[in-house]
Formats: sequence, C-alpha cells, structure tokens
Amino acid sequence: MTMFTKVSSNSQWLSKVREKFDIIVAADLNLGIGKNNALPWRISKDLKYFKDLTSATPVPEVLNAVIMGRKTWESIPAAHRPLKGRINIVLTSNPNYPMPEGHFISSSLDQALDMLIPAPVDRVFIIGGAQVYNEAMQHPSCGLLYLTQVRHVFDCDTFLPPFKQVFQLLSCSEVETEDNLEFCFKVYEFNFPEYLMA
Ligand SMILES: NC(=O)c1ccc[n+]([C@@H]2O[C@H](COP(=O)([O-])OP(=O)(O)OC[C@H]3O[C@@H](n4cnc5c(N)ncnc54)[C@H](OP(=O)(O)O)[C@@H]3O)[C@@H](O)[C@H]2O)c1
Repeated sequence: MTMFTKVSSNSQWLSKVREKFDIIVAADLNLGIGKNNALPWRISKDLKYFKDLTSATPVPEVLNAVIMGRKTWESIPAAHRPLKGRINIVLTSNPNYPMPEGHFISSSLDQALDMLIPAPVDRVFIIGGAQVYNEAMQHPSCGLLYLTQVRHVFDCDTFLPPFKQVFQLLSCSEVETEDNLEFCFKVYEFNFPEYLMA
C-alpha cells in the first residue's frame, strides 16, 4: 500500500505475508491489567522487555507494528507516543481520530491486519488494552502470548479474559524482583480450538 512505500526498499520484506500476530501484556495474579486507564504498577525491567521485544527486527530497514485500542493509546504519555521505532496502529470507531504522520487508525482488528499484509513489517504485536486483547485472544491469527506475570494482586478495573484453556505454556523465566515486586516472563502459544475452525 502506498502509505508504507517510504519505509523500506527491501523487496524480500515487501512480499512477506505474516500469518500470525503476537500479544504482549503484563497482568497480576487476578489477570488485572489496568486501573483508571493506567498501568497499576511501574516495573522498569518490564518496560524495557516490552520495548526490546516489540522493537527488534532482523534488519534495521524493517519495523514491527503495534496495534492498540484508542484508550491504551491515550494512556501513553504524549511525549512517548507514538511508540518509536514501531508503526503504531490505533483501533477506533472515529474515522477522524488524529494520528501522527506514518502512524494509522483502523476501524477493526481485521482491517488493521489487512493493512499490514503488503507492508515491509516484520512482526505484529497486539499491545492492549482489555477490549483489544479480548478480541485478539479469540482470533485465528493469534500466535504467541507474551505474559509478564506480576506475582501480586493489585486494585484493578481492567482485566484479561481467562485464557489458559486455549493457550499452552511454552516457557517461563526465573522470578525477578524490582522494588519488592516479583514478576516473571512467560510465553504461551495459542491453540485455536478445533470446534471454532468448523
Ligand atoms: N498491563 C498491560 O500490559 C496493559 C497494556 C495495555 C493497556 N493496559 C491498560 O488497559 C486499560 C485500557 O483498556 P480498555 O479495554 O479500557 O481500552 P482499549 O482496549 O485500550 O481501547 C478501547 C477502545 O479501542 C477502540 N476499539 C477497541 N476494539 C476495537 C475494534 N475492534 N474496532 C474499532 N475500535 C476498537 C474503541 O475506541 P473508540 O471508543 O474510539 O471507538 C474502544 O473504546 C488501561 O488501564 C491501560 O493502562 C494494560
């Protein structure tokens, strides 16, 4: 699509069709993820993990894309958005929602994914919030779920849906600690239920 022509001239990436997107989220032991449109905790190692994972690409000319809901976009401090080094796509029903140049809105998750098919983009990450996670976790193109498990219970007003019946645990890091908060990095794989494929 014309909107991506500036990004890269590497035809290897222009022809690449991604079959899966991945999800990245931090949740507490009750699957709480947010309070008052903000994160309930501040864990700098997790913010670095998020930045490194969502930014890394095999060649510098190619970017990853991050897809998020309009409320999550608005929860990012203005000075830090768009998330740099990544193509930011915001889901919203408002066709006039303003975005900085080189970043986009979309009226649905499928439209956002379609928009990226011809783009020189390596990985696509769904980065929240709850409304978008909920849809992404039931989507046939869902691949991996990167979960930072914050091993405490916070006062939250936004939660992930229960997901363990349809995701299989692939790996789990050692427990780390920062400011008396324990957390670990888990990776799950989506097992799309057969009965939904019919
Ligand atoms: N812990 C974490 O890792 C993490 C990560 C991200 C966010 N969060 C937290 O999650 C909370 C926000 O989550 P949320 O569920 O309230 O909001 P959200 O999912 O970020 O945004 C919801 C909005 O996105 C738009 N939207 C969602 N799905 C759409 C679709 N399929 N098509 C078109 N537009 C769509 C709608 O915008 P319009 O109303 O404009 O139509 C909707 O009102 C915050 O507390 C945030 O801090 C936590």
